[in-house]
Amino acid sequence: MSTDLFKAAGARRSIRAFTSEPVTVEQVESILEAGRRAPSAVNLQPTRVIVATTPQDLEVVRSAAYGVGACVTAPCVLVCMADLESDKRIGERVAELNECGALEPMNTKALVSGAGTPFELKIGREVALMNCAISVAHMDLQATHLGLGTCWVHHADFEQLADHYDLPHQIEIMTLLAIGHAAESPVPRPRIESIEWKKTVQRSRKQDGESTSSR
Ligand SMILES: Cc1cc2nc3c(=O)[nH]c(=O)nc-3n(C[C@H](O)[C@H](O)[C@H](O)COP(=O)(O)O)c2cc1C
Repeated sequence: MSTDLFKAAGARRSIRAFTSEPVTVEQVESILEAGRRAPSAVNLQPTRVIVATTPQDLEVVRSAAYGVGACVTAPCVLVCMADLESDKRIGERVAELNECGALEPMNTKALVSGAGTPFELKIGREVALMNCAISVAHMDLQATHLGLGTCWVHHADFEQLADHYDLPHQIEIMTLLAIGHAAESPVPRPRIESIEWKKTVQRSRKQDGESTSSR
């Protein structure tokens, strides 16, 4: 992890109170660009964003977020959505992955791999939402890197928002990301000690000059 990224990941806190200072267009563009660069399964890039910064838009978002929490004072809220039909472009994307050697030559129509085995591409709603979450994580860290505070807001009436923006059926709201200048500085929230499920002996064996394989 680069030092900047590590710093941002360590400094990030969920911020639920913001000053009235606006987020600039340049900052929003840089945040969206970080989201655009995120990896996605089969490079389907399903993430779509509505940037709410006008008083009217922010009022709609606040109301959908039940008038509580980060959306109450945030000067900018990203409505982060997944296009569940982004897999319509799968032919194009698979060809691209074939070209760079990710999949090995395969018959994309029959979905048979180069090794002749049946092959199932993992696509669909869950994968689109997962891809969207990765983009949002990128945007979150970029906003933090720019010195801004953020908060994911999943606790909101997305149906109300979808109606307001007249979203087509294939566009699903995944989360809101409230962004602004922090008016609070919370202490780090507790984390579990480790996310490692099964301890490997890699490090100690390396130190002993033994094999690096895990137990
Ligand atoms: C997917 C997701 C949904 C969340 N939804 C909400 C929410 O609806 N309202 C809220 O105030 N915080 C929400 N949060 C923020 C979490 O409560 C917060 O990340 C967690 O308590 C850890 O605190 P920290 O972000 O300051 O480290 C959400 C975070 C994530 C990742």
